[in-house]
Amino acid sequence: MGQRKPIVAGNWKMNGSCELIKEIAAVSTQVSSEQCEVLIFPPAVLLSEAISAGLTCGTQTVSEFESGAYTGEIQASLVKSLGANYTLVGHSERRSIYGESDEDVANKFAQAQQSGLTPILCIGETQAQREQGKTEEVVKQQLEAVIKKLGIASLANSVIAYEPVWAIGTGLTATPEQAQATHKYIRDLLSDYDKHVANALRILYGGSVNESNSELLFAQADIDGGLIGGASLKPQSFKAICESAKG
Ligand code: 13P
Repeated sequence: MGQRKPIVAGNWKMNGSCELIKEIAAVSTQVSSEQCEVLIFPPAVLLSEAISAGLTCGTQTVSEFESGAYTGEIQASLVKSLGANYTLVGHSERRSIYGESDEDVANKFAQAQQSGLTPILCIGETQAQREQGKTEEVVKQQLEAVIKKLGIASLANSVIAYEPVWAIGTGLTATPEQAQATHKYIRDLLSDYDKHVANALRILYGGSVNESNSELLFAQADIDGGLIGGASLKPQSFKAICESAKG
């Protein structure tokens, strides 16, 4: 991992409660901030509660628009003003269930940065795409949608999360070698645009990470922590995952 400080981020999806915020806040104070950055992505309605509990937070998505008549959407500048610093963009569930295109994701990425939030850009292939040997092509297209719109420099203030869709919520984790191979591909691709940006960028792995597999995954040279779904709802598991990330 070199000089890159790992991030362990919990994506609660549409789960969690005020009670869970207290429990996660309690365990996260036991994780050394020297060791890793702990981030929580609760449902947006719990954001203020989570920030008040001392957690470093973000939203699971934001609107691509600055403000206006967009009923139900999450305004990035308001998220920032509440004291959150991050947002996920392009999570596979947003892409597959809500039809977000690469272009929508690039627009959300732009709006997040304009509002002072650090976007965590989620990318990854489906099972069918992997079986067809298209993993690299898919992640390249997802990354280049942002690079072509905003330039490689925009990635300097961002984080990437590689989440193979077939590994999300399935218990099927990519092996450390499979994950490392794609992370290395991503870093090498970005390096062709800008070596410094590529070297400094944190690339997280996500997809059925738990306390039994996190240590080996995080030990890979190009894996800089994880984006955790189900296990981030279990305080002791989440704490163990955070402790397995070493800066
Ligand atoms: P699981 O850890 O539940 O597989 O979810 C991964 C994920 O989608 C995190 O964003």
